[in-house]
Amino acid sequence: MKSAAPPNFDTAAFRLALGEFATGVTIITTRAESGQLIGITASSFNSVSLAPPLVLWSLAKRASSMTVFEANTHYVVNVLAASQLALCRRFATLKGDRFAGVAHAAGDTGMPILDGALAWFECHNRSRYDEGDHVIFVGEVERCGVTGDAREPLVFHRGGFHTVDPLG
Ligand SMILES: Cc1cc2nc3c(=O)[nH]c(=O)nc-3n(C[C@H](O)[C@H](O)[C@H](O)COP(=O)(O)O)c2cc1C
Repeated sequence: MKSAAPPNFDTAAFRLALGEFATGVTIITTRAESGQLIGITASSFNSVSLAPPLVLWSLAKRASSMTVFEANTHYVVNVLAASQLALCRRFATLKGDRFAGVAHAAGDTGMPILDGALAWFECHNRSRYDEGDHVIFVGEVERCGVTGDAREPLVFHRGGFHTVDPLG
């Protein structure tokens, strides 16, 4: 198979184009074997398959949480509400204990589910694919749920945070 032609754009132009794709925002959480709770903000979440129920997300190889996410059997994808912007920032940047003072409860798999998440997916860490500077994680969903209230989702677009307005 012929290999790809080299890109005719730089990383900034690639980021600019990718930024036009509006996404929701999630926090992926897990509990290390030591009991330490780990979480990172991720917008790379997407659905893969209905039967079996599969989802995916990708993690930068430089992330300090990589060894835990690679080794753990389970993690939770928490879908954020617009009212959870502070949590989104905290789990993207804070160097210390990101869970300090953050309300959460253990799900059926024992992994932490954040209070107030619009939806959550408790996943078995089914497979991982090494690609470029990220690892793609495919999770098999064992449990999922929704809060079921009318709060708006957090939306990430052009590097900024938004929520949704109905079109009509
Ligand atoms: C809106 C938003 C989306 C992000 N999406 C991702 C993502 O999909 N994958 C990723 O590896 N990092 C993503 N990040 C950056 C990580 O949250 C951040 O690098 C991570 O929390 C670093 O944690 P760690 O080094 O402690 O593992 C995102 C950050 C923000 C603000």
